[in-house]
Amino acid sequence: MSIAAIISSPAKGNTYTIVNAMAEQLKADGKDVQVFEINAMKDRRGCQGCNACKRKGSCVTKDDLTPVLDAVRNADGIILSTPVYFGEACGQYRLLEDRFFSFLNADFSVNIAPGKKVAVVVSAGSAGADKLAEKIEGVMKNYFKCEPIGNITVTTGNDPKCAANSAEIMAKAKEIAKKF
Ligand SMILES: Cc1cc2nc3c(=O)[nH]c(=O)nc-3n(C[C@H](O)[C@H](O)[C@H](O)COP(=O)(O)O)c2cc1C
Repeated sequence: MSIAAIISSPAKGNTYTIVNAMAEQLKADGKDVQVFEINAMKDRRGCQGCNACKRKGSCVTKDDLTPVLDAVRNADGIILSTPVYFGEACGQYRLLEDRFFSFLNADFSVNIAPGKKVAVVVSAGSAGADKLAEKIEGVMKNYFKCEPIGNITVTTGNDPKCAANSAEIMAKAKEIAKKF
């Protein structure tokens, strides 16, 4: 069982804390987990819209996101996380999400294995975490044939330690990690 865990927030705040707690639980359960921090990657490009993936079966843009795409392709499970920025996922998340286009063939069938388990983590200062988590789950389910196993949404009041200080949220992180 291998899991690719994605942190896209530039801050080492709530989503960072929750994803790392999930990763620790996965490791404790003997699972193979790789954690990727998109913001730490210097050479990260969005989808170029070249459609070469529709002929080649994978993304031809080679940059720091390439190992992330490979890890997601090869994983049995995925953890996706983002803060809410202006009602949407943050830019770092959107860059990666657009690159997931390479997992779709020309006829929109998927070229990655179906049935990967996916857990989604979203943090918002005041509103929108639930809606965004549902949207991301919908994309992963409908386009990429993943199986959502649960999400964690936090309304933080912009406190970067909100999740860390909540026993309930930290317990939920472990609970969902155990579902992989
Ligand atoms: C550029 C920017 C835009 C934001 N936009 C929103 C927003 O539209 N709605 C909201 O509730 N919070 C917004 N926030 C607050 C973050 O979602 C909030 O602080 C969140 O807890 C950050 O998650 P993190 O601790 O995982 O980085 C914004 C923060 C930034 C920096």
